Amino acid sequence: MAEDLSIINGNREEQYRSLIPQITGLLEGETDLIANLANVSAALKEQFSFFWVGFYLVKNEQLVLGPFQGPVACTRINKGRGVCGASWDRAETIIVPDVDVFPGHIACSSISKSEIVIPLFYQNEVVGVLDVDSDELNNFNEVDQRYLEEIVKLIQLDN
Ligand code: SME
Repeated sequence: MAEDLSIINGNREEQYRSLIPQITGLLEGETDLIANLANVSAALKEQFSFFWVGFYLVKNEQLVLGPFQGPVACTRINKGRGVCGASWDRAETIIVPDVDVFPGHIACSSISKSEIVIPLFYQNEVVGVLDVDSDELNNFNEVDQRYLEEIVKLIQLDN
C-alpha cells in the first residue's frame, strides 16, 4: 500500500473523489480494525484539515473513543446522548450546522462549531460512529454525508 497521501486542492466533492481510491488502497490487505480506523481518520484530517476526526466504537452499551486525529476528547458516550449517541440511537447520519443549538450536544471543545456523525453498520447493527467536527459553522452538507457514508462502507468491520 502507498504510505503517503496525495492532497489536492479543489471543491469538497473533488477532494472526496481524490481521497476515496487512496483510502481504498490504504485499507487493502489490512484486516486490523484499529489500524484501518486510524488511517481513515488520518486521511480525512490530512485532506480536509477538519478540527477533529475520529471513531467511537460500541462497547458494553456505550460508545468508547477509538482512533482519532485532533485534540483529546471525551472517552464514553451513552446511547442517545450528544450527536454521536443520537446517531447511534437513530441509526442514521446526523448533520449539525450549529452545535450550540443541538439539544444535548457534548462539547469536547468550544472550538467545534459544526459536526457530522455517520453510523458504522455491521450485520444491520450500529457498531460505531465516525464523528467529524469543524471549527466553522455550517461546514457539512449532503456531499459530506454521501462520501463519508461511502468511506465508512470501505472499512471491514468483522474483526
Ligand atoms: N460532540 C460530540 C462528542 C464527541 S466530540 O465532539 C469529539 C457529541 O455531541 O456527540
